[in-house]
Amino acid sequence: TAQTLAPTPPMGFITWNLFEGNISEDMVKSIADAMVETGMKDAGYEYVIIDDLWQGDRDENGVLHPDYSKFPNGMKALADYVHSKGLKFGIYTDIAPLTCAGEEGSYGYEAIDAQTFAEWGVDYIKCDYCYAPKDIFTAVERYGKFIKEVRKQDKKMVFALCEWGKRSPWLWGESIDAQLWRTTWDLRDTWEHGSYGVRNNGIMECLDIQAHLHEYAKPGHWNDMDMLVVGLYGKGKATSANGAIGCTDTEYEAHMGLWSLLASTLFVTCDIREMNAETQRILMNKEIIAVNQDPLGRQAKRIFKSGVQEFWAKPLKDGGYAIGFLNRDDHDTLEMTLDLSKLKLSQVKARDLWTHTDLGMYQGEISLSVKPHECRVIRIK
Ligand code: DGJ
Repeated sequence: TAQTLAPTPPMGFITWNLFEGNISEDMVKSIADAMVETGMKDAGYEYVIIDDLWQGDRDENGVLHPDYSKFPNGMKALADYVHSKGLKFGIYTDIAPLTCAGEEGSYGYEAIDAQTFAEWGVDYIKCDYCYAPKDIFTAVERYGKFIKEVRKQDKKMVFALCEWGKRSPWLWGESIDAQLWRTTWDLRDTWEHGSYGVRNNGIMECLDIQAHLHEYAKPGHWNDMDMLVVGLYGKGKATSANGAIGCTDTEYEAHMGLWSLLASTLFVTCDIREMNAETQRILMNKEIIAVNQDPLGRQAKRIFKSGVQEFWAKPLKDGGYAIGFLNRDDHDTLEMTLDLSKLKLSQVKARDLWTHTDLGMYQGEISLSVKPHECRVIRIK
């Protein structure tokens, strides 16, 4: 059944990075409306996921309730609204007594919570790992137990692990029927490493962590490189308050291109009710999204690296490849040359996916001019 739950990497919106605890029924409804009105839904963004800080208390039967001051009509009504827009509904919990933000977790309540989420119409469960024992054995056991309860429900729910790649979940996630697993600490709105605490990654750091994980991504099971920071411009969690200043549009574009090449989830965190034109252009490029959603379901491999120059190749269903030309230099535009023999190819037709232009035929190699922190993405065949 895993195959049918997440045949391609899940896409959508999630509340955490920008909104944190500033969430409510009205806010989530207006996001769902905006998903449709902005064209995000048509572009493939499907889930609306509520992260931490939605919870209220458990009742005398152990049933978890939302914080009714934020969600006055409860989660079933909200899920129904999201579904009425043709979207899917996701929720967050943690497999310990407490969540990261100190709310009620699901540990010891696996059966009740699986049933409650199913009754609400939840389509996607993100399950965190704060306050749980650090060893692999416990992680497999706790997550495995919860997923078993989830699978007893008639409602099909994607199950996403969030233990930050610390216990190599790519080795055992599939065996317990998890559809995806985070591979990094939280991605922050910054290009290089987060310089503001250990449990944070920059875009390039998240990328480097994936370089050896390509063989674990496949239809039904994905490495999750964490949410997109596109369009945050320094707003939100652990950004301005901690000295990170956000990214340039060129960097956001590279981030989107790389997350697509690496078949990560595409979960937007900016306020989609007020995206500027650049953010819309970056998030809704249908040719880039098609690379992420390609049915072959392969994750790009870093096929060649020389200093600041990197070439990432993702095999596609049509027999061709999507190629990322990434320039990690901070200052210089570079002429980057891909030797086609690295892919055992000699003559190819190429198309530039960010600009939607056919580049023509190439023999032996492809040279492109790439700006600092830019990732050009082309399709070849
Ligand atoms: C840690 C996770 O990595 C984040 O994505 C987010 O879910 C927070 N916990 C919520 O507390």
